[in-house]
Amino acid sequence: MRCRICGAPAAINMRQHKLALCRAHFVDWIPEQTERAIDHYKMADRGEKLLVAVSGGKDSLALWDVLHRLGYAADGVYIDLGIDEGIGYSGKSRALCESFAAARGLNLQVVSVPAVYGASIPDVAKKSMRGRRKPCSVCGLVKRHIMNRICREQGYAALATGHNLDDEAAVLLHNAMTWSGGYLVRQAPVLAATRPGLARKIKPFCRIYERETAAYALMQKIEYIYEECPYSEGSSTLYYKEILNRMEEDRPGAKLQFYLAFLQAKDQGLFAPGASGESDLHECAQCGQPTSAPGKCAFCRLWENATPPGLRPPSP
Ligand code: AMP
Ligand code: FES
Ligand code: ZN
Ligand code: ZN
Repeated sequence: MRCRICGAPAAINMRQHKLALCRAHFVDWIPEQTERAIDHYKMADRGEKLLVAVSGGKDSLALWDVLHRLGYAADGVYIDLGIDEGIGYSGKSRALCESFAAARGLNLQVVSVPAVYGASIPDVAKKSMRGRRKPCSVCGLVKRHIMNRICREQGYAALATGHNLDDEAAVLLHNAMTWSGGYLVRQAPVLAATRPGLARKIKPFCRIYERETAAYALMQKIEYIYEECPYSEGSSTLYYKEILNRMEEDRPGAKLQFYLAFLQAKDQGLFAPGASGESDLHECAQCGQPTSAPGKCAFCRLWENATPPGLRPPSP
């Protein structure tokens, strides 16, 4: 197989695009596609200050690399969740983010959940709902809260995450299985900051396959953590990704078509405006972040129930 542009031996064949490229052309193709998505979905303007949420995984580090190459002013934030048993997941991913930033002279902020908030994610999960709450659901809530806080406090125009097409299609399939209207309405490449305390959230890799972000990271020699979070085993997202991969195998492009057709249907009014529940948002009585819960937000209630008295409370 040969590169469509220069005829050199191809490093990757993307069946869904009927496109094979050599290494040099592929590592330029990814930023081009990313920039197209940024423009198409009006994610950000050049000159806006962006915050990239980096986990130490291939997607978010590849995204930071791409945004940097495209000339965006993009700082990084890593949230250390305190998941340290076994392989030392948090410490390892933190070190990879730090060395990535240092090698490129980029600015990385690290927020340690145990140091700032007094307990690790596994500890909070154990103590919340008598241990019936899974670390991953606690983790998602805590990450969203902290990322929004940093973005808001430090005046970033938008928060960029490394969600790729496989992530988006898996979440979409999951939500479509239960017709979760609120989630479906809110699933989009860009979530506007619809009220003052809310950061704009963007997913510049939403049309890029996971296989391609992995190939990009390898070709760019980005060191990333190969292991998944130890709590993700058996997660529904992995299950839906597997199903979609089987469909993709039979019909190249199935994942992309599923996701893009969903966005188009939404644009055409498939879901009623207002189903997202966004209009019910108000400020949390404790931390001031937007919430739909009456009184305090889910983050503040979680922490109140899960941390012993005397530990540092969530910062306002
Ligand atoms: P995940 O929910 O683990 O699939 O991650 C989705 C995206 O969230 C990643 O691509 C990152 O942009 C961001 N993210 C995940 N974990 C962290 C973390 N510990 N610190 C900062 N950002 C993260
Ligand atoms: Fe959050 Fe696994 S529990 S990354
Ligand atoms: Zn080429
Ligand atoms: Zn709160």
